[in-house]
Amino acid sequence: MAIQKVGVVGCGLMGSGIAQVSAQAGFPTVVREVSPEIVDKGLKSIEKNLTRLVEKGNLTEAQKNETRGRLKGTTVLDDLKGCDVIIEAIIEQLPAKRELFGALESLCPASTIFASNTSSLTITEIATATRRPQRFVGLHFFNPVPVMKLVEVVKTIATDPAVYEEMVTFGTKLGKTPVRAHDSAGFIVNRLLVPYLLDAIRALEEGVGSIEDIDNSMKLGCGHPMGPLTLLDFVGLDTTYYIANIMFDEFRERRFASPPLLKRMVLAGWNGRKAGRGFYDYSDPQKPKAMKF
Ligand code: CAA
Ligand code: NAD
Repeated sequence: MAIQKVGVVGCGLMGSGIAQVSAQAGFPTVVREVSPEIVDKGLKSIEKNLTRLVEKGNLTEAQKNETRGRLKGTTVLDDLKGCDVIIEAIIEQLPAKRELFGALESLCPASTIFASNTSSLTITEIATATRRPQRFVGLHFFNPVPVMKLVEVVKTIATDPAVYEEMVTFGTKLGKTPVRAHDSAGFIVNRLLVPYLLDAIRALEEGVGSIEDIDNSMKLGCGHPMGPLTLLDFVGLDTTYYIANIMFDEFRERRFASPPLLKRMVLAGWNGRKAGRGFYDYSDPQKPKAMKF
């Protein structure tokens, strides 16, 4: 069965990017959020991205309009009923994801493929909220989705091999390079990336260097496009905190443990760029200023 219509749940940082690349790839795409305001915010960010592509000559005005025409924002879960694949990109918390997929299970025909964009939960523990673990995969995209070329396609021991191959092909159709990963918390990228990001916070806590010097070290010394503290703000500190707790719970290794500073910042609502404040202050988004603790 070839995929014809795509559903996305969540229109935040990741869901809006996934919906954008899906619509740009030619799929009619329905994206569901919890309130009309958040639907609007997500669609506005897609509009901004598409406009930037037109300005740069990477998309024609007609292609932009066609892409927009393929996108439908909604708050109604029922609107996802006719989708061939539904990609979940909501908050990184197991109960929320299980509740959502439980509701989708009752709503969608048995043929619909379910996918989660989780960063750190196992696909198995989400899929057992449904009666279709054989039609359940991980599709893990990277932020910003329209730019990053990778998608990790994750199979569990229960995933039907034909469904898995279909999702690998689907990843390619979205313009991504798929890599194959087994269902281990954090898959490939976050197994390696998360300890690095958490270590950058530990280095800051221990006074090894300032925020700017830690970031510049990894940019200028190792050629990373962003320093680790800038990247943490970009990913979202709340999301990183959930990821660290989930991975620590799974592996019981210190390298995945949340540093106390991360917890304090999340409690204070300093969730990074999307909140206007994290390791940097984004009052002027063009000129972020390192915070003083
Ligand atoms: N949405 C869409 N496009 C964007 C964008 C966004 N949010 N941000 C930047 N871009 C585009 C720009 O339009 C620009 O396009 P062109 O090349 O066509 O001009 C291009 O990306 C480069 O942007 P800039 O010149 O403004 O800035 P930059 O060179 O610093 O690149 C970046 C920005 C691509 C984000 C780069 O800094 C980068 O690669 N950062 C690291 C990102 C990363 O590591 N992501 C993975 C996070 S971990 C994860 O996602 C997994 C998880 O589970 C947590
Ligand atoms: P986000 O906070 O930007 O967006 C999450 C959105 O989900 C919010 O807008 C929220 O309103 C919405 N939501 C919550 N429950 C919902 C429901 N039942 N139905 C519809 N919408 C609902 O978070 P994000 O960064 O986009 O992360 C989403 C998922 O993607 C998480 O699982 C995260 O681990 C994963 N992820 C994040 C990144 C990243 O860099 N931020 C990268 C890869 C994967």
